[in-house]
Parts: sequence; structure tokens; C-alpha cells
Amino acid sequence: MEVPKEMKAWRAHAYGEEGNPADTIGKMTLDTVPVPEPKKGQVLIKVELAAVNPIDWKLFSGGLHGIAPVSFPYVPGFDLSGTVAKLGEGVTGLAVGDEVCVDTGLCETCCTDSPCGPAGAFGEYAVALADTVAKRDGLSSKDLVGLPLAGLTSYQAIFTGAGRDFAGAELGKLSAGQKLLVLGGAAATGAIAIQLAKTVGAYVATTASPNKTSDGMSKIDFMKQLGADEVINYKEADWADVLAGKDYDLIFDCVGTPEDWPKASKVLKKGGTFVSIANFGDVKSTEDHAFKVFLLKSNADDLTKLVALVKAGKLKVPVDSIVPFTDVPAVLTKSMSWASAGKLCVQVSS
Ligand SMILES: NC(=O)c1ccc[n+]([C@@H]2O[C@H](COP(=O)([O-])OP(=O)(O)OC[C@H]3O[C@@H](n4cnc5c(N)ncnc54)[C@H](OP(=O)(O)O)[C@@H]3O)[C@@H](O)[C@H]2O)c1
Repeated sequence: MEVPKEMKAWRAHAYGEEGNPADTIGKMTLDTVPVPEPKKGQVLIKVELAAVNPIDWKLFSGGLHGIAPVSFPYVPGFDLSGTVAKLGEGVTGLAVGDEVCVDTGLCETCCTDSPCGPAGAFGEYAVALADTVAKRDGLSSKDLVGLPLAGLTSYQAIFTGAGRDFAGAELGKLSAGQKLLVLGGAAATGAIAIQLAKTVGAYVATTASPNKTSDGMSKIDFMKQLGADEVINYKEADWADVLAGKDYDLIFDCVGTPEDWPKASKVLKKGGTFVSIANFGDVKSTEDHAFKVFLLKSNADDLTKLVALVKAGKLKVPVDSIVPFTDVPAVLTKSMSWASAGKLCVQVSS
């Protein structure tokens, strides 16, 4: 595959004034920059579609500088789907022309001395570590572009896989007959978690509102369509009152409201676990219930299992919309409103 020397890429130039991500978004520019060169163990991917995740704009606040100190200017975005264009030294198992998807990884691209990046999904070409890249196995970019970051997060939250909490402990171990509560089932992570839990025969309750999906369906009905056994309208009822005493095994928190963990003891069985991906406050486990918070670990093994579930028709990644490459700032702004129903995607090339 012929690789050009230069490409178009959206770049962010500084943390937002007073920590406001909208300021960074408003000052992003579509630039012509050199195509990155894959180093040892890396691949260059021609990006067809990219997907937005809240972390893309959360980074712009500067509040995550301690975890992921991005260096400006950089190309934001982590989720992408495309075609391998070039192999770095020592890469085996992937070939030029392979159709792939990947979460390029927060720590892998944005930390000081990180091996790739910084970041890079919102550009025509991006570099990723080969051992984070999964082949698409005949599936389209649209089927898979929203899968890597949200899918790996949900998979690791409820089954652990390559994920670990900040103390190195395993995360969820959901199995048949167990009960899972997903807080925020209409979030991309939540929608994937509901389906993953059903694949192992768990009972699933979730919270959602009657707000509409892009198809005009109520998010409550959408949750049922995904397989949720019980949907609680969080605008009208408190999940802790509705499910009190029901002995849930696991709560997966995709919302991060600080008031949720203190209520969990009403719903969790003794020894139950609350896994959050969005509550990074100073929270401690109790004698009866474990609180765990983590950052997903991008890796090809877990992602390949998820691709296989999509291929088998057991998992569908909801897509809110696909916008043109010129609309990257607009779609990041939409993500900040927390109102999407599924993945917000960007057509980077055809
Ligand atoms: N730690 C990690 O490794 C990790 C990885 C991935 C994501 N995350 C974090 O996890 C969170 C979810 O990410 P995402 O990409 O799944 O989000 P998303 O798809 O952008 O979430 C939007 C959805 O959340 C729903 N929602 C908003 N407030 C809610 C509430 N109080 N209760 C129930 N549903 C609510 C909205 O529905 P309504 O219309 O009802 O408001 C909307 O459908 C973000 O904070 C993200 O940064 C962390």
C-alpha cells in the first residue's frame, strides 16, 4: 500500500482555559502533518472511521494531567477502524492490507515516553501497538469502530480479562444466574455490558431515561431490546429503592454519580462488588462490599473475543451517528452533552 508523506489531522493545541474542554475544542485546527512512522512493535493504520469517547474531551480539561500528560499539539481520539498500511520492525501476525480495529490506548499514547502517539484517531493515519490491534474478520468498520474502547472497558469490568483495579485486583467475574445492575445502560459502555452479561446467562437490571435514541425509540425500550430484564427510569425512581434487598452480585457504574456507591449496600449481596469506570473520588471498600475503579487495558486478546461476539450476532455496538471528518469539533461538543445514544462516529476516509 502506498503511504503518502503527509496527511490531514485534527489537532488540539492547549488545555482549555479554566479547565474548560469546550475552549480546546473551539480552537482545534485541521492541519497537514507528517504521516507518523511505526516503530518497533507498532503498525501504521489508514483510518476509515474513528469513534468519539468522553475521554477524548475530558483530557482537554487538564484535570487528567497526572495520569495522561498529553503534549500539545496532538491528534486526539483513540477508537479507530481501518486498514494496516505499514508494519514496524518485529511485527508478526498482522500484514499490510489487514482490516483492523483498535483502541490506541490512553497510557500507550498520551503518557510521558509513551510508545505511540500522542493519541491519533482523528487523523488520516494513526500508529498503534500491534498487540492492541484486532482483525475485523470480515466485519465492516461501522460494525466495529465503536467497539474497542467501550467494549474492552465493559468486558474487563464484568469479566476482568486483562483489566485490573488500581490496587492490581481482579474486577468482575460475572457468571450464569448471577445478577448485574448496570448504572447507565444507555451509555455506550452500559449498552455493551448488558449484552455481554446476557451472553453468559446473567440477570440484568439497568437505569435509563425515556429520552429518545437516534431512531426515535425510548432509551427504556432500547434497553429491553438489548436484553435487559428490568429497566428503572432514573428520572422517576431511585434504583436503590427499587432493588433494595435483591442481593445483586455486581454493580457496573458507567455514570459516576458520587451518591451511588453509598447506596449500593442496599442492593448488593454480602461480598458483592461495585465496579466503577467514572467515579474517581476518594472512595473505600467496606467490610461487606468491594469498590473497584479502573482504567481499561487495551489489548488484542480481549478485543478479538469481542469481535467474535459481534461476528456471532451476540453483540451489537449501538451507533448514534456518523459525521464527516470536517465535523470533529462538533461531534466532540455533542459528546460533552452526554445525550448520545450509542457511539458518535467520524468518517475519516472512504
Ligand atoms: N475508566 C475507564 O477506563 C473508562 C472507559 C470508558 C468510559 N469511561 C467513562 O465512563 C463514562 C461513560 O462513557 P460512555 O462512552 O459509555 O458514555 P456515553 O455513551 O457518552 O453516555 C451517554 C449516555 O449516558 C446516559 N446517562 C447520562 N446520565 C445518566 C444517569 N444519571 N443515569 C443513567 N444514564 C445516564 C445518557 O442517557 P440520557 O439521555 O438518559 O441522559 C446517554 O445515553 C464516561 O464518564 C467515560 O469517561 C471510563
